[in-house]
Amino acid sequence: MSFRQFAFGLTACFLVPWVAIVIIPFFMMHHLKPVAYNEATDGKDGLYRPQATGRLVNGSEVYAANGCYHCHSQLIRPVYAGNDLGRPDWAGLKSDEERGDTRRQSNIFDYQFEKFAQIGENRFGPDLSNVGLRVEKEYAKGSDPKVWLLNHLYNPRANPKLVTSKCPSFPFLFETKKIQGQTPANAIVVKDGEAVVPSFEADVLVDYLMSMKHDDAVPGSMNHLPPAPKGGAKAAAPAAAPKG
Ligand code: HEC
Repeated sequence: MSFRQFAFGLTACFLVPWVAIVIIPFFMMHHLKPVAYNEATDGKDGLYRPQATGRLVNGSEVYAANGCYHCHSQLIRPVYAGNDLGRPDWAGLKSDEERGDTRRQSNIFDYQFEKFAQIGENRFGPDLSNVGLRVEKEYAKGSDPKVWLLNHLYNPRANPKLVTSKCPSFPFLFETKKIQGQTPANAIVVKDGEAVVPSFEADVLVDYLMSMKHDDAVPGSMNHLPPAPKGGAKAAAPAAAPKG
């Protein structure tokens, strides 16, 4: 093999994956076009407008800085690629009290309010795409979901249901203050005249986690599991649909 062939081969080895993994996806995704609902299959028309609330950007930075993505994913895989819809309440709630089955796969709009899409490296812990929903509807039940999350961050093993939790504690996201006069309203632990209160980082991280509710109804064209047509429409379909 000549040096020229070697140099060409080496360049191609880096160039081809770089074009395929970085350049092509960049041009495919950097200008997101709005996706429209289809009146016939989605039951409404207009454009899909992804929603986001809370201090996402700061929270997302704290999430990244503390390496949560090493153990937690934020990606509900579609049915054709290792379906995640069957995992309990990862993809949305199977039986939401008001809206019924809200499960859906992740889509590109789920990440558009963050600088990086933190899809995660490992799944040592559960997927967090819908953790805001789970905490609110299941774990905190009636009490303040933010307080549940703050306690989890401070020490997951303090929760009697999670005594063997493998999720690390993040005590450095909290401040311990001597109580002088009234106990601070946002104290999560009060002990020996001292109160543990969340820092700004803990607050924004919890806001970020609470915003993880990726179960809004998307246009059928973006979902590989469109909801089944209601009221026997399925049976009527073959007769109505013109062939060819
Ligand atoms: C070393 C791996 C690891 C890291 C790093 C980690 N976690 Fe966890 N986490 C887990 C595991 C495992 C669980 C599952 C249950 C358990 O053992 O508590 C979990 C559970 C959770 C839960 C409860 C989710 C549920 O639905 O039950 C939340 C919320 C959470 N982690 C948030 C975080 C945040 C925020 C960070 C970063 C600040 C983080 N975790 C970092 C391993 C990790």
